[in-house]
Amino acid sequence: NIYKEIVPYLLDWFDYNARILPWREQPIPYFVWVSEIMLQQTRVEAVKGYFDRFITALPDIKALAEADEDKLLKLWEGLGYYNRVRNMQKAAQIIMKDYDGALPADYDKLLLLPGIGTYTAGAIASIAYDIPVPVVDGNVLRVAKRITASYDDITKGSVKKELWKELYDIMPKDRPGDFNQSLMELGATVCIPNGKPFCDKCPVVHLCRAFHQDVIMQLPVKPPK
Ligand code: ADE
Repeated sequence: NIYKEIVPYLLDWFDYNARILPWREQPIPYFVWVSEIMLQQTRVEAVKGYFDRFITALPDIKALAEADEDKLLKLWEGLGYYNRVRNMQKAAQIIMKDYDGALPADYDKLLLLPGIGTYTAGAIASIAYDIPVPVVDGNVLRVAKRITASYDDITKGSVKKELWKELYDIMPKDRPGDFNQSLMELGATVCIPNGKPFCDKCPVVHLCRAFHQDVIMQLPVKPPK
């Protein structure tokens, strides 16, 4: 597995370079859930304000389950994709009914909740519960395809699935949430999608095949729809 070597470098880098974020200081499962749903559509900097307002208004899963629809939609105003917050409320109601108000600490059970797919289930399981499952988002795909100098089409479901399995095999059992976040953070701040990445700041540049082959700007491959 060619990703095995990156693990210690990424964890060390993350220790010094992780941004301080409200949902990172206290990785309460509910906070991780809310933040990761917001982050699927909006950048970290813009999410901060929405996150603080949402958590102040609806501090726990019970409050979310019982919130009036108007209040819910007002809190989401500007973020778009209103079905996401509606699904969160449906999930919160199920969590109250079936799980005593706590998000299940179980990847497969998380996946059964409305609006929670492999990305969100992986984020909650690893960051909030230290369960060693990967997350594969656009940042992770880009970093991975550059490290391996792979021309796989990252819009393909099969490519995502394959990467998920490869990362699953190398998850550090003691720090799965930090490992996942280090990959996402590296993609968001160093191995960036638009413009030249900051390879001089990259903790795994010495292992990066795209860097050594001088093909970083060609990767990842993302054919137009
Ligand atoms: N993007 C989405 N979720 C993230 C996280 N937990 N850390 C860094 N970037 C992210």
